[in-house]
Amino acid sequence: MKTVRLAVIGLGTMGSDLLHHAVDVPGVEIAAVCDLQENLCDKAVAVAKGAQAFASYEEAIATTQPDGVLVAVPQGLHPAVSYAALGAGCHVFCEKPMALTVEECRQMIGAAAQAQRGLMIGQVLRYMHPFMRILELARSGELGKTIGGRVIRTMPGWAGEAARPWRALRAECGGMLPEVNIHEIDFLLCLMGHPTEVFAYGGHYVNNDVDYEDLVMANIRFEGGACASVTSSCCDAHGRNSGEIFFEKGSVYYDSLTGELRIARFGAEVEVIPYGELGPDCEPGVRREVREFVEFCRGDGPLTIPGEEGLRNVAVCEAAYRSICDQQPVAVTV
Ligand SMILES: NC(=O)c1ccc[n+]([C@@H]2O[C@H](COP(=O)([O-])OP(=O)(O)OC[C@H]3O[C@@H](n4cnc5c(N)ncnc54)[C@H](O)[C@@H]3O)[C@@H](O)[C@H]2O)c1
Repeated sequence: MKTVRLAVIGLGTMGSDLLHHAVDVPGVEIAAVCDLQENLCDKAVAVAKGAQAFASYEEAIATTQPDGVLVAVPQGLHPAVSYAALGAGCHVFCEKPMALTVEECRQMIGAAAQAQRGLMIGQVLRYMHPFMRILELARSGELGKTIGGRVIRTMPGWAGEAARPWRALRAECGGMLPEVNIHEIDFLLCLMGHPTEVFAYGGHYVNNDVDYEDLVMANIRFEGGACASVTSSCCDAHGRNSGEIFFEKGSVYYDSLTGELRIARFGAEVEVIPYGELGPDCEPGVRREVREFVEFCRGDGPLTIPGEEGLRNVAVCEAAYRSICDQQPVAVTV
């Protein structure tokens, strides 16, 4: 098996998670780890023995010339690091959100095309339960076409490790929709296809730790006629990750508060599956996305979550914020 050499740029919460999974993927050598914080580099080298540590991503890429680069710096830097990697002939795995604007996403896709390299986006929620099970159900066709859905992902605010200064600023994280709910948006788009229009309301109500909307309700219309809504908040004392997906022949509910997936088929008893029974032995989502990227780098598999899908998700976020400002529906342009 050909060894795939990787560099991991950004070794905070997500970069360190990616690294821990990458060292477990067969045939991977971590050539470089990179972060501005030296202590994070030291920790990473302890995990990836033999990796060279760098404070500069340009130097990390130029010195070690990896096959693929995992980009896990804050999103304001995703384009710059991706350009450096693509320009050096590397394939890129970039964390979500792909970038802060649709225009930047377009330029990243253009750079990948010009370099003839792959650009994969870390929309990992689709590889995690209960979302993965719902997507499997949809693909099986057993419940017919997906006609709509409502997803809720809310939290009291940023706490602990997640309360990074960059996450409090719209200029650096983009707001709740790209930083958090882009995962649920990706899930809805996997289910319902191409988004055409967003009508959103929202505001900055009570969370003074952030400088952006702490409550957003966004409605999305899809090309095939389906409709969906996303509730996003960082001022919900409960905090919840739940949703209802409506199909022609039934509906599926999931809810972090009960820890259950409920599948209702017209005329049949409701099937209740505790999250713990959804696939305890299945491959962790982050490990799967890293493995797929490695297989792509080796030439053994397809690029499973291409830049175009990351762009579509950013386009929905952008349209939602524009809709809040303009107080009218906004077309999604991709
Ligand atoms: N897929 C997911 O579920 C998920 C979860 C968390 C975060 N993320 C995404 O991953 C990215 C990182 O998030 P995080 O939680 O790890 O943030 P973090 O703040 O914990 O880590 C970011 C790291 O990047 C480093 N960094 C900043 N500028 C750098 C530079 N110029 N060169 C090298 N290193 C630099 C910082 O020192 C920090 O250690 C974000 O885009 C975030 O949205 C994705």
